Amino acid sequence: MVCLGNICRSPLAEGILRSKLPLSDFMVDSAGTANYHVGDKPDRRSIAVAKKYGLDISNLKGRQFSTKDFDNFDHIFVMDESNYINVMSLARDDQDKEKVKFILNEVYPNQNYSVPDPYYGGNSGFENVYKMLDEACSIIAEQLT
Ligand code: 4NP
Repeated sequence: MVCLGNICRSPLAEGILRSKLPLSDFMVDSAGTANYHVGDKPDRRSIAVAKKYGLDISNLKGRQFSTKDFDNFDHIFVMDESNYINVMSLARDDQDKEKVKFILNEVYPNQNYSVPDPYYGGNSGFENVYKMLDEACSIIAEQLT
């Protein structure tokens, strides 16, 4: 799960998908394309909305996406177009590129919709993001299991 800072959207996506998959069989992680928040906990508003729905993401730590992630993961879900461009620019070949998908294309195929960045908004943005990610992650989990 990839966003810009790895403190708002992608840690929520990580927590949600983790809750829907058998973790004995799957590795779920998140990263940011930027390095501003490496080592940081998720944004308190992401922690709060996750908690509201019974998920604890407070122990996650920000890290930056790297080329090695193409070796470690089969699927790379990005939140928006800028993440898509940044991740694709690190892809080494077609096999890497095929792993990269807009997460909302799971719900709205081929539309390339973005999960809006809630960082500069209020709590309602986080609620909205949670609902979008929950719907997408249900579909992803169903497809993978
Ligand atoms: P995220 O949100 O990409 O969903 O984690 C952001 C978090 C931090 C910043 C931007 C977006 N920032 O500019 O620090």
